[in-house]
Amino acid sequence: MTELEATLEDMLAVERFDPPAGFTRRRPVEADRAAADLDAERFWADAARDLLTWDKPFTQVLDDTNPPFYTWFADGELNLSANCLDRHVSAGRGERVAFHWRGEEGERRDVTYAQLLADTQRLANGLRSLGVAAGDVVGIFLPMIPEVAVAMLACARIGAVHNVVFGGFAPSAVRERMEVSAAKVLITVDGARRKGRRAEVKAAVDAELGDLPALEHIVVVRGPRTGGDGGASEPAASGSGKEPAASGTGLAAGVGTGASEAPMTPGRDVWYDALLAGADPDCPAIPLPAEHPLFILYSSGSTAKPKGILHTTAGYLLGATYTHRMVFDINPDTDVYWCSADVGWITGHSYIVYGPLSNGATSVMYEGAPDYPDRDIWWQIIEEFQVTVFYTAPTAIRTCIKWGPEYPGRHDLSSLRVLGTVGEPINPKAWLWYHLVIGGGRCPIVDTWWQTETGSVLISPLAGVTSTKPGSATQPLPGISPALRSEDGEPVTEGTGVLVITKPWPSMLRTLYKDDKRFVETYFSRFGPTTYVVGDAARLDADGYYWIIGRIDDVINVSGHRLSTAEVESAIVAHEAVAEAAVVAEPDEQTGQAIVAFVTLAGEQTGDAAMEARLREHVAHRIGKLARPRRIIWADDLPKTRSGKIMRRLLRDVAAGRELGDVTTLRDPAVMAVITDRVRTARDDEE
Ligand code: WT7
Repeated sequence: MTELEATLEDMLAVERFDPPAGFTRRRPVEADRAAADLDAERFWADAARDLLTWDKPFTQVLDDTNPPFYTWFADGELNLSANCLDRHVSAGRGERVAFHWRGEEGERRDVTYAQLLADTQRLANGLRSLGVAAGDVVGIFLPMIPEVAVAMLACARIGAVHNVVFGGFAPSAVRERMEVSAAKVLITVDGARRKGRRAEVKAAVDAELGDLPALEHIVVVRGPRTGGDGGASEPAASGSGKEPAASGTGLAAGVGTGASEAPMTPGRDVWYDALLAGADPDCPAIPLPAEHPLFILYSSGSTAKPKGILHTTAGYLLGATYTHRMVFDINPDTDVYWCSADVGWITGHSYIVYGPLSNGATSVMYEGAPDYPDRDIWWQIIEEFQVTVFYTAPTAIRTCIKWGPEYPGRHDLSSLRVLGTVGEPINPKAWLWYHLVIGGGRCPIVDTWWQTETGSVLISPLAGVTSTKPGSATQPLPGISPALRSEDGEPVTEGTGVLVITKPWPSMLRTLYKDDKRFVETYFSRFGPTTYVVGDAARLDADGYYWIIGRIDDVINVSGHRLSTAEVESAIVAHEAVAEAAVVAEPDEQTGQAIVAFVTLAGEQTGDAAMEARLREHVAHRIGKLARPRRIIWADDLPKTRSGKIMRRLLRDVAAGRELGDVTTLRDPAVMAVITDRVRTARDDEE
């Protein structure tokens, strides 16, 4: 055992960490708690006046007359891009860096607020010239480059509703999201690179989306290129090796590095740089109603159909702005902030783009992977930019633990003052490692609990204020009212229950896009229209601290990415060789959960390694690499009730290595014996 490991072992016994003695908080917050406890609505109204710049002040705060369709500040008007850009530029902060962009080949681009504003205005005019008006949906499928922020802000400037798709999704998943939201324009990239490889994104997008009736234009950004045709090239053939390099499985999946020109359809497709060059540089921000729709972000639910979570302007921006400054104790004059998420997730929307820009902060935006060109690239970036606040996911921390402390150990991380995590519960050991190895024992850790639906962080320590317990997201932020309920709806004041939020908050989702019915059914049917059902189970301890346990629905959390079992199942079943499939999660040390698929093949086909590779590749193509099953178990039959319903509960037990629950309701109890045996063999083979 190394000295570090011994220290970690010892510290596992420490239940509670008071804020580090040397930490000085810059933003006082105690008064907020008192004000919110007294009158939450008034607290939010004061915060909205204080933190946002309004074109027309609101007189109404919360309208709760038609739950669960709440509105906030509804008669006020503002423009979100003006709040993120113009107000900083006109206050003389135009030369401040908004993003220190770092490319994966070591390139650096510092983008100032003034530059962001200039590009945003031109793109906004460019989009208008393509026929985009307020309320139209614009899809965005871009890698981690500053243009992704410009694209989002340009939409917000003219009241278009953006629909960003995570770069790891396959073009067919992009198609589905564009189709259901009837996107009029898609902003994408010619090619994207990842670890020296290049994906021909535009060509793949064309093949999948070319015939969408509502899609009138595709705007194409020239993505960062590796000098010459540099970088290592990968064979185009799939099926070779463990990770088939398939084209068209997302921005990060490409093959080859050649600087080929993207195919452009005249009249439909337009280069981003040409669009900007031809556009009027002035595009005044138009005042929009507070409840004007800002964006749709698709997230996985209990069915195969992703949910189009809809956020609106003022409430969302207030949540992102307030929590970003208060949770992380951000001082825009001195902090350098870095959130390592992808902009295609809600974390990127709220804590790479909107929160930091609204606060006028300076951030790092990094294009690449955490292990390219080397496993110390993150720590090198922190040292290079003197990052003070770092926000990442527990799964990333666990990967770093596996790689070893020598990588961060090579770098000076003394600029760090606050650390954050998001996406899944953090195990105490990873928390302690983060605390000691990355934070040097001097940085408060904020374990932030929230969801795509909540828009911004709801339960979290406040850096330097809240005493933390490793593994607990601790307490609600000011103005937020969580509670636990038993299965039958009784309040749980200590112990385990279903997490709910009992009062509306400004940044909550307003509905599911064009599907009010599903919105009500999903979140507000179990305990009535005023109680938001989160979908997580949690435990409340004697100090009133929340411990998130995990999802209670058919949602799997792989590396903090939310996937629906039904969505993965339907992708697998769509393969011609497959008769039936059931997908469950198994615990995984690295990724939290991993996907296990139980598959029955059609006819006489045999489940072998080649078939497994084909199915994994098929899922990568339909959804994206992140949805590929970690393990496929071939089954002659799946456990079913007499009425033919697959009993996933039993499959979950097998996958988790638990004792099987009740099997007496099975049509054929022998099925489970075979499956249990196969899972054991698969595990043994692995070891
Ligand atoms: C689900 C929401 C919020 C951005 C990333 C995920 C889980 C999120 C935590 C945390 C324990 C967490 C929950 C939640 N989750 N943060 N700090 N501790 N669990 O957003 O894809 O909407 O997923 O992620 O299960 O319901 P999302």
